Amino acid sequence: MSDRQYSRADLKGVLPEAHFIDGAHRKAAGGETFATIDPSTEEMLAAVARGGAEDVDLAVKAADRASRGDWRNLTPAERGRLMFKLADALEADAERFALLETLDVGKPVKESLGDVRGVCATIRYNAGAADKMEGATIPLGPAFVDFTMLEPVGVTAHIVPWNYPLGMVARSVAPALAAGCTAVVKPAEQSPLTALAFAELCQEVGLPKGVVNVVAGYGEEAGAALVAHPLVRGITFTGSVETGRKIYMNAAAGLKPAVLELGGKNPMIVLGDADLERAAYDAIDGAFGNSGQVCSSSSRLLLQREIAEEFLERLAAHAQKLAVGPGLDNLDLGPLVSKEQYDKVQAYLAAGRRSGARVRLGGDRPKALERGYFIAPTIIDAVDAGNALVREEIFGPVAVAQIFDTVEEARALANGLGYGLVAGVYSRDISKALTLARDLEAGSVWINGWFIGGVQAPTGGIKDSGIGRERGLPGIRNYLSIKNVGIRL
Ligand code: NAI
Ligand code: MG
Repeated sequence: MSDRQYSRADLKGVLPEAHFIDGAHRKAAGGETFATIDPSTEEMLAAVARGGAEDVDLAVKAADRASRGDWRNLTPAERGRLMFKLADALEADAERFALLETLDVGKPVKESLGDVRGVCATIRYNAGAADKMEGATIPLGPAFVDFTMLEPVGVTAHIVPWNYPLGMVARSVAPALAAGCTAVVKPAEQSPLTALAFAELCQEVGLPKGVVNVVAGYGEEAGAALVAHPLVRGITFTGSVETGRKIYMNAAAGLKPAVLELGGKNPMIVLGDADLERAAYDAIDGAFGNSGQVCSSSSRLLLQREIAEEFLERLAAHAQKLAVGPGLDNLDLGPLVSKEQYDKVQAYLAAGRRSGARVRLGGDRPKALERGYFIAPTIIDAVDAGNALVREEIFGPVAVAQIFDTVEEARALANGLGYGLVAGVYSRDISKALTLARDLEAGSVWINGWFIGGVQAPTGGIKDSGIGRERGLPGIRNYLSIKNVGIRL
């Protein structure tokens, strides 16, 4: 079923266009809208409410009321039960959500369906943990009893990017709900549809109104107003370093904690003794999956000289077979999300060609596709360490290879950038791999595999790649504050 082609008619029902605030659909206070585009056709899908400070104020106040109302009086187990119900409802409606996602961002339907399944798993993990977040007793001596209570921080803001629109909503909203918080989500302007549908589903399964609100719109308008709102007590953001810095500075003005996940330029280090077929196979998904629009993509391939040529040949042989086309056609790769992203990737490719780097595969839009923001899977090598292609996040289906001789050189190249999200090592020598794992400057290190993890394993960056960790139990602690209670006996 999942590899079949779809058409627009498979999407039953209307596209969500209004904000979802306090349990109801709402037009923008100013009546304004913005267009969300299907990147496979470049046509407008829907005119969505364009939020500003007034809409954000309504949503945050609704979330604040909800955080003091019925939601607060539920037991953690009851909150968990509502969340399990939410996951079941989403699973039952997976195809509609997947089609909305595919239309909005262009990813193949099978990928969108996989994302929805991942969201269900995320909600269930957090639902099950809702009644397992425990405080501590503190040994102050015989004259005292001292303990900690974990309390929801209150209203939380979630500013979400467009590469996994629903996945990124769930990654932070599910733990916030498990913690007993309420949420206001600002989806990316490129991809508002699934977040809006999700808020409606939360209402349908019985979450009290105001617990999950979504205000659509632009970052500078709705996003900035949300960060600045005095009733917001915690911020979670995933996106660019530049925007992350702005949000962190604005959060500082209100002394609000912020969890920031800011992307990477992640090195996949392939040593001479590695299982080359496995590494090349992983690099296909690592570099080209979701058309490379993944913060943890294997966008830098660091190859030891003796295996570099063979690795690149194997990679190219696999990459050549990837079929590119509209999301509804359900092939291997869809388009990039927007014209802006397409132009950005094309600019990197043009600058790369001018710099003398060698394009081994792809390098442009596939000739057969006349419309849509498509770029063919691209492999580039002969790049020097100063080139932007190996220093900056391209966020497109572009794998860039660098060659090294010694492990020390690989370590220096890997750690030589501001980014520190993920690093990977392929080697049959576990001591070598673990020594590198210890020395690599990254929030996650993967050995002999790529995209290792899931909702159970904490992720996040160091250095310019961000602050804080999401997923796992640390992901829930982001939304709990510790109250210490001391008693003199
Ligand atoms: P962005 O970081 O500007 O946008 C992400 C989210 O932040 C969107 O919801 C946007 O509306 C919001 N936002 C923007 N400015 C804001 C502000 N001043 N206050 C509050 N919210 C604000 O990313 P953009 O422009 O869409 O993409 C640029 C580059 O960022 C990409 O080419 C890619 O390299 C990187 N990126 C990284 C992602 C990741 O997963 N780490 C996800 C998306 C983009
Ligand atoms: Mg932006």
